[in-house]
Amino acid sequence: MSTWTLPTASGSYVVGLAPGDQGLVLHHWGGPVQAEPPAPSLPRRAASFVRDLDLLPMEATALGTRDVHAAEIVARRADGVRGLRLSLAGEIEHGVEDDGGTRLVCPLADPVAQIEVDLHLRSHPSHDVITKWATIRNRSPHAVELLRGWGGAFEAPTGAGAEIEVRTGAWSRETTPSLVDLTAGTLSVGSRQGITSHTAAPAVTARPRGVPDGDAWSVALAWSGSWRLAVDVVPFVGSVRIAGGPDDESGILTLAPGTSLTTPVLAGLWAHGDGDAVANAWHTYQRTLARSSGPEHRPVVYNSWYATTFDVTLEHQRELAEVAAGLGVEVFVVDDGWFRGRTSDRSGLGDWEPDPAKLPEGLAPLAGAVAERGMRFGLWVEPEAVNPDSDLYREHPDWVHHVDGRPLRTLRHQYVLDLGRPDVEAWVIGMLCRVLGSADITYLKWDMNRAIADGGQTEPGGDDWAWRHTHAYYRVMEMLRAEFPQVTVEACAGGGGRIDLAVLERSDVVWPSDETGPRDRLAIQHGFLGIYPAWTMSSWVTDEPDILDGEPASLDFRFVVAAAGVLGIGSDLLAWDERTRACAADHVARYRRIRDVVHGGRLRRHGSPDGAAYALQYALGERVVVLAWRRSGGALAVPVAGADPAGRYRVLWGSGEVEERTGDELLAGLPVPWSWDDCDIAELVRL
Ligand code: DGJ
Repeated sequence: MSTWTLPTASGSYVVGLAPGDQGLVLHHWGGPVQAEPPAPSLPRRAASFVRDLDLLPMEATALGTRDVHAAEIVARRADGVRGLRLSLAGEIEHGVEDDGGTRLVCPLADPVAQIEVDLHLRSHPSHDVITKWATIRNRSPHAVELLRGWGGAFEAPTGAGAEIEVRTGAWSRETTPSLVDLTAGTLSVGSRQGITSHTAAPAVTARPRGVPDGDAWSVALAWSGSWRLAVDVVPFVGSVRIAGGPDDESGILTLAPGTSLTTPVLAGLWAHGDGDAVANAWHTYQRTLARSSGPEHRPVVYNSWYATTFDVTLEHQRELAEVAAGLGVEVFVVDDGWFRGRTSDRSGLGDWEPDPAKLPEGLAPLAGAVAERGMRFGLWVEPEAVNPDSDLYREHPDWVHHVDGRPLRTLRHQYVLDLGRPDVEAWVIGMLCRVLGSADITYLKWDMNRAIADGGQTEPGGDDWAWRHTHAYYRVMEMLRAEFPQVTVEACAGGGGRIDLAVLERSDVVWPSDETGPRDRLAIQHGFLGIYPAWTMSSWVTDEPDILDGEPASLDFRFVVAAAGVLGIGSDLLAWDERTRACAADHVARYRRIRDVVHGGRLRRHGSPDGAAYALQYALGERVVVLAWRRSGGALAVPVAGADPAGRYRVLWGSGEVEERTGDELLAGLPVPWSWDDCDIAELVRL
């Protein structure tokens, strides 16, 4: 029997043909193999109830090809033909990509339904990641509804059942990790909100039960509309099946005769080790998605939102910019409130001209004042949204997502523009080009503050509104990249409502949460860093009291929390006295010195953010940065992973105190002296 190998950085992924050439079956996913791995064996069973294909680790299946267990493609033709019997329809293509990765394309088809499915697999030579997607083509004279249109599945060979790590949450509580001991049935996470959502992150990790630091298989979905990831325990087979794609409850994709669609990419990662091994493997893979991970698109931000909310005026912003420049800030970003009619969240969205009452001569004087102070200038926009109280809505009430005859519902007093309409997409592109051309703007924060709950047009095929919206969002983001390469894009959706691999491919940084209270933030960042890298994690220092996190914390504490990612400041700088400003300037200078290590280094998380003490370690070459926090009185000695036992290291603490340590001592644990109130930073360099 033929097999095909996709070598990965330190292991391999091997597939073969399923019985009857009905698709591809997994032979091996994980570390290196010495000999050719055998085809998967079938468990004993009552043969008349379950077919082989239901028990084999298939790479992609359709309802109809297998019947008992979950399938990734569920199709129904308008003339009533239901399900698909897929089998090989041509030569399997096995080739090498320009970057040295391996490509495998398996053409499958159902001649009766006249539907073709090309299954694509790809390896990435410097990573232990396989990406997988499908192109589904309708060759029949009838429309085809895809009740589920996913690009295949990954079978994680965990043994019977698995421990599944998911990240769930809510607004201001994003990316909270949980472990589910899954011994039977299906675990399903997802979003029906038209955006990735605060509710769950589209990434799950499976491990053998009770083995927290052995083999791990993690799967992430690159999709920013409604979605679902399903983890199925296939009884008596010894693996869990992880599949995902666009949500199959809130939307249906329709393929007109002669058309095709390509599913979102599902990325599967194998790692050996604990949660940090998985985190670092994802982080390095995500460098291949980003256009850069350097400081040019990760400037130290000042953002006006928490200081001024909707009360933006030229004079006030200029004064804030004056102070921000003195602190070492690199880009000054005016958040919500700068455009016509935006006096509160009840009006103005859609009317993207500078408010003449607030900025009578437009944005240029403010951008100029910011540039004179040596900073870049940035702006907040929410292109997909419109307030009913706006000229845009009054002119184009039909542009919002709606169902004919059903009353519209506002959330945060706004509707969502149906970006999937070509005229709306063109308008958004024109608006962004006009705004970005109106002043020297090199930073754009793209926000999105509500779920797309009212989608669904009434024309046939209109059920793919979230699919069309999401693709249009991608096209507009890609237009920004191509036409305005100097513009750094920060992606935001009321905090972390739209973060996934597809967004990270098209933006530079993301805003993980609106919660900036430092204890809460540490927990959110801990979960975020388990999948997404520090160089994408925008994090600001803000003033107390926080809305949710009432625990007092010093300015130092808040700076050390923000230094764990891409540091920003969102405080009311005019309320800061000279001492506070000097302290902040010190922190910014220190951060600028260490940020290459924070952004480029290997992450190690020590302890838990809600424990007595917690630390993050970033190691890059001969340098290590340790950020540490504690609850009052907690002690901590950080075992500096990766230190050379024979080496000597200089350690510079936040207080300025310097000491020397041997690598042996560092491995045993670096005691934290707590330079500030319950926090510290250590900069280590090998001598
Ligand atoms: C939600 C964002 O997450 C905040 O940072 C801020 O930009 C507000 N929207 C503005 O309306």
